Amino acid sequence: MSKFSFTLNATDGAARTGVISTPRGEIRTPAFMPVGTAATVKAMMPESVAATGADILLGNTYHLMLRPTAERIARLGGLHKFMNWNKPILTDSGGFQVMSLASLRKLTEEGVRFASHIDGSKHMLTPERSMEIQKLLGSDIVMAFDECPALPATDAEVAKSMRLSMRWALRSREAFGDRPGYALFGIQQGGVTRELRAESAEKLTEIGFEGYAVGGLAVGEGQEVMFGVLDYAPDMLPVDKPRYLMGVGKPDDIVGAVERGIDMMDCVLPSRSGRTGQAWTRRGQINIKNARHADDPRPLDEGCTCPACRNYSRAYLHHVFRSQEMISGMLLTWHNLHYYQDLMQGLRDAIAAGTLAQFVAAFHAKRAEGDI
Ligand code: GUN
Ligand code: ZN
Repeated sequence: MSKFSFTLNATDGAARTGVISTPRGEIRTPAFMPVGTAATVKAMMPESVAATGADILLGNTYHLMLRPTAERIARLGGLHKFMNWNKPILTDSGGFQVMSLASLRKLTEEGVRFASHIDGSKHMLTPERSMEIQKLLGSDIVMAFDECPALPATDAEVAKSMRLSMRWALRSREAFGDRPGYALFGIQQGGVTRELRAESAEKLTEIGFEGYAVGGLAVGEGQEVMFGVLDYAPDMLPVDKPRYLMGVGKPDDIVGAVERGIDMMDCVLPSRSGRTGQAWTRRGQINIKNARHADDPRPLDEGCTCPACRNYSRAYLHHVFRSQEMISGMLLTWHNLHYYQDLMQGLRDAIAAGTLAQFVAAFHAKRAEGDI
């Protein structure tokens, strides 16, 4: 069986392009991972997600352990078979979702005890249990179990939380064991404090992972502050391993993160906002609900080759959104995911050609023109 590996093919400034090889296929980087929290990218067939250009999906330990449970998915042949997605899957480890979704949370050195947001049932997540669940799911890229402190927090609180996450990272590594072809990624924490980010990176590097995530960002600090951290944080991580920025972001966040050396990202934004009538295009954000689209025969995005743009007018998309027809969420999600993947392909090509600065300038110029 082929092993998990990362090959860097080209750099342009701090930006990188390469390929992550896994037994389930290759992931071209920089990569955007659509979110398939509950074993589905909402409103999309898996074949359609692949057709947008996605090489990998993200799944969630927290949701799947509660429903339908990891044990049931394992009995049914694993998450790939269960959801009919044969390419790589990365799963988040659960701690972050527990903190934002569960109630009655109790955080200890051992892990997090919580009540399910679905039925109030009691559960415990620890580094060991998170590794077990992600193995039962058959996840190709497993995330270490961490804690992301709620903001605002003092430096002392962020430091304490980061050090707990680093002890959990070591326990995650030990519990994961030796699994050729599968990867375990460590997660850097430390808030927006350089010294804490450095301490976290040092701890993770000492433990040793197949990839490294930058966690604890996009939690309300704003783009400028996030980019400030990304000006130094990726560089603290091993150059020869993939770097994954968790939970980011809007198209301009993605472009800025890639410029700063990020290789992988995930975000619910393109899929979630598709279901609320928001479209992301080369000319910026469009709300299809707006009355100005009611008679517009043009596609959402003139530069897009997705089925929503090739076969339907803005007027139609407006109509089905207003009528609350299911196809509305399907078409807008398809478009948004296609647009995100086109953006990633453009970034990869520009980095390979050494023309990233021109690509980024053109990206911003088009958005500045607006939706005309
Ligand atoms: N998703 C977004 N941010 C984070 C983070 O800091 N940790 C984890 N596990 N998941 C995330
Ligand atoms: Zn489109």
